Amino acid sequence: MQNHPVLKMIKESEYLPKIPRVFGEALNMLLDPCEFNMDECIERLSRVPKLESTLIQILKFNSTLSRKIITLRDAVVYLGAKNTRMIAVAYITKLLLPNRNGRAKIFNNSTYWKHCIAASIASYMIAEETGLCDKDRIFTYGLIHDIGITVMDICIPDYLDKIYTLQQEKGLHQIVAEKIVLNGITHTEIGMWICDEWGLPDEIKDIIGYHHHPFKKSEAGDAVKVMHLADSISAQYYAKLLGDKKSFIYNDKIIELLNLSKEFVEKVAESLPGEVEKIYYTIDI
Ligand SMILES: [Fe+2]
Ligand SMILES: [Fe+2]
Repeated sequence: MQNHPVLKMIKESEYLPKIPRVFGEALNMLLDPCEFNMDECIERLSRVPKLESTLIQILKFNSTLSRKIITLRDAVVYLGAKNTRMIAVAYITKLLLPNRNGRAKIFNNSTYWKHCIAASIASYMIAEETGLCDKDRIFTYGLIHDIGITVMDICIPDYLDKIYTLQQEKGLHQIVAEKIVLNGITHTEIGMWICDEWGLPDEIKDIIGYHHHPFKKSEAGDAVKVMHLADSISAQYYAKLLGDKKSFIYNDKIIELLNLSKEFVEKVAESLPGEVEKIYYTIDI
């Protein structure tokens, strides 16, 4: 897979943000607070360009803080593992924000970004209803579940435009259009490859790699199934934004496995437009 011509092209692109592997190592530590070694984690985070200033800056916005936050250590101690992890994931999302860096001309990246926010909101609601995974964690993962598409937007925008055009003009499914244009691979393989490049944790890689096929990897956990359903609900919302009148059919097996009712799924779908609008204009990653 590493030698696939599309991945080679992405690797050789000068546009791909450079994220050191120590970032992935620190994220792994933050995901497992029992094994959390503050000093080792801080040492790794300190080697990620601009992360220290980002964390301190975020905390300075909070004027009610009684203590001074000057160093990375102050910030991590104040925030704790859970919040530092969320901000760290938000940090990579910011680096890859479609509106900031996207270069595709035809692909509608602000609408795509709304799809990501909708997937985050839907996954949060499903996690809250089922209790199957951490709702805050899954919300942050929703923002990066389609990271492979963002990578295309940044590094190989012409290919993304071709995929988008095939979908719009020929009515092809996204995955089919991707396989045609990308010589057999899809945004999920690109996403998994970037996870390896940046050393991101396996639970993030599983979501990015299997959210379209949650049964492909037998040991993929509940979070992948939750994201699959959230992504399907959000895909319907996204298609409507793009004027696609086709109705999507949810995977009944997933709804059953997650022990959810169709009424609940409909309720999530109906709430998305309002919830996304609320967040879209206020979210400041
Ligand atoms: Fe996807
Ligand atoms: Fe998606």
